Amino acid sequence: MLRKIASLNKPALLIVLLCMLSTGLICPLQAADADAVMLKRGKLLFIQCRACHDLKMSPEQEQKVGPNLSGMMGKAAGTAEGFVYSQAFKEAKFSWDIAVLDRWLEKPSAVVPENLMAFSGINAQLDRTALISYIVEQSSISPSK
Ligand code: HEC
Repeated sequence: MLRKIASLNKPALLIVLLCMLSTGLICPLQAADADAVMLKRGKLLFIQCRACHDLKMSPEQEQKVGPNLSGMMGKAAGTAEGFVYSQAFKEAKFSWDIAVLDRWLEKPSAVVPENLMAFSGINAQLDRTALISYIVEQSSISPSK
C-alpha cells in the first residue's frame, strides 16, 4: 500500500491526502469542526424560514404562517397536525427525506407545483446542505435532543 502511494505522482498524492482529510480518516477533529460550521451556517440560513416555521412544537401546539416542522423527516408531506394546507399539499404523496428536502429548498414549485409557500429557493448547494443539517438536527423529536 505504502509503496503504491509513493509511486503515485505528486498531484495524485495530494488528491489521495485531500480525500483522506475530507472523509475524516486522518483528522476526525477537523471533520467535527466542519459539522459545527455547517450547523452554524444552517442556523443562520434558517432565519429566513423562522418567520413562517418553527422546528419544535410548543406546548400550545401553535402553527405559524407555515406548518410546524417538528419531526418532519420521514413523515408524509402535508401532515403537520393543526395546519391547513393548500390543495396541492393535501394531494401530495411523498415523505420527506434529505433528497426531497434538498430539491424543495432549491425550487419548491418543482416538488409541489402550486404550493402556497412564498419562497423562491436557495441556489447554493452548500447552503442547502447546511440548512438541511440544521433542520434535521433541530426538528428531531427523539428525547435525547
Ligand atoms: C412566507 C412564509 C414562508 C417562508 C419564508 C418559508 N415557508 Fe415553508 N411553508 C410555508 C407555507 C405556507 C407552507 C405550506 C404550503 C402549502 O400548503 O401549499 C410551507 C411548507 C413547507 C414545508 C412542507 C412541510 C410539510 O408539512 O410537509 C417545508 C419542509 C418548508 N415549508 C420548509 C421551509 C424552509 C426550510 C424555509 C426557509 C428556507 C421556508 N419553508 C420558508 C411558508 C413559508
